[in-house]
Amino acid sequence: MRTTISVIKADIGSLAGHHVVHPDTMAAASKVLAEAKAQGILIDYYITHVGDDLQLIMTHTRGELDPKVHETAWNAFKKAAEVARDLGLYAAGQDLLSDSFSGNIRGLGPGVAEMDIEERISEPIAIFMADKTEPGAFNLPLYKMFADPFNTPGLVIDPTMHDGFKFEVLDVYEGEAVTLTAPQELYDLLALIGTPARYVIRRIYRNDDNLLAAVVAIERLNLIAGKYVGKDDPVTIVRLQHGLPALGEALEAFSFPHLVPGWMRGSHYGPLMPVSQRDARATRFDGPPRLIGLGFNVKNGKLVGPSDLFDDPAFDEARRLANVIADYMRRHGTFMPHRLEPTEMEYTTLPLIQEKLKPRFKKEADMYKTKESIYTKGKSTGETHD
Ligand code: 13P
Ligand code: 13P
Ligand code: MG
Ligand code: MG
Repeated sequence: MRTTISVIKADIGSLAGHHVVHPDTMAAASKVLAEAKAQGILIDYYITHVGDDLQLIMTHTRGELDPKVHETAWNAFKKAAEVARDLGLYAAGQDLLSDSFSGNIRGLGPGVAEMDIEERISEPIAIFMADKTEPGAFNLPLYKMFADPFNTPGLVIDPTMHDGFKFEVLDVYEGEAVTLTAPQELYDLLALIGTPARYVIRRIYRNDDNLLAAVVAIERLNLIAGKYVGKDDPVTIVRLQHGLPALGEALEAFSFPHLVPGWMRGSHYGPLMPVSQRDARATRFDGPPRLIGLGFNVKNGKLVGPSDLFDDPAFDEARRLANVIADYMRRHGTFMPHRLEPTEMEYTTLPLIQEKLKPRFKKEADMYKTKESIYTKGKSTGETHD
């Protein structure tokens, strides 16, 4: 059977700051999805949240970018945002950047991860959802899952994985995509995805038969809005087993709480902490950036599950390390590399402060003989010094 899995998410307002979704807003969204299910638009759905992001997990047979499914999600967010406004929740309607819906939800603010697949006899999937970070946060764990045998021994041991995977990488600044094959082009791949603010893994396919293995919501909210309105808080859908990473190989990639951009005011690097659904609430310094994972089986379009994948003492050490890293990073205060680099701060309110100080700068003799720097020009020339 051909099934489409659509995960569409948005921050429509939250309790007590950028903290947690209110249950009444989830109930409002649920009502809209229940109606869509009754009308046959959706086969099944599951609603959850990570921090202040409302997550709609939907299945249907209508393919990707389907206007009806996207309109359903938009209406669910609108209804939920109305409830958020009535309750006086913080930043009600935060990610709904447009007043009206036209065709599909892309570019309107919410994040979208969709895959249209031929269901295998058993179709295990994991959906990873993050709060207080951006889509490039998945670059490192997806690389580990699909290209690093030290994480995924199946790449070495399993003949059906041995040909590797190809990665579709999007340059979010230029709006161009490139596909790179691992292991053959591993170094080229790493050359790009090591700059996760710009180059974002969007899709992953198995090399030998082009089987779609993973998709990521690549929306960069600030690039759409042209200003800081909140972080993107991305999701990824990963298919598992039978020639794809085992569930445990997918989870293993998150056992290292790597540094991701986001956290307080979307302006700080912090560790991505894998947590249970119960702990999917931003607290300390509006974080640390949190990740939940839900495991399902998809059968005839039905969502069987979920299992709360990080609700497990096996991830206690990753969380402990994340807390130690959080302490360490916090002690930098407003200094880089805790605070993001200038190109990423462009969309925050920091440039207003720089603008205010500008008239007070007095020109000095040019003792450094520098050409235009990346700070004044915005781009590196790539030239090196002797
Ligand atoms: P969200 O992107 O989760 O709304 O958080 C924004 C923020 O500024 C947190 O400090
Ligand atoms: P406020 O100015 O509403 O406090 O927002 C700060 C913040 O959390 C940035 O997202
Ligand atoms: Mg928010
Ligand atoms: Mg959020």
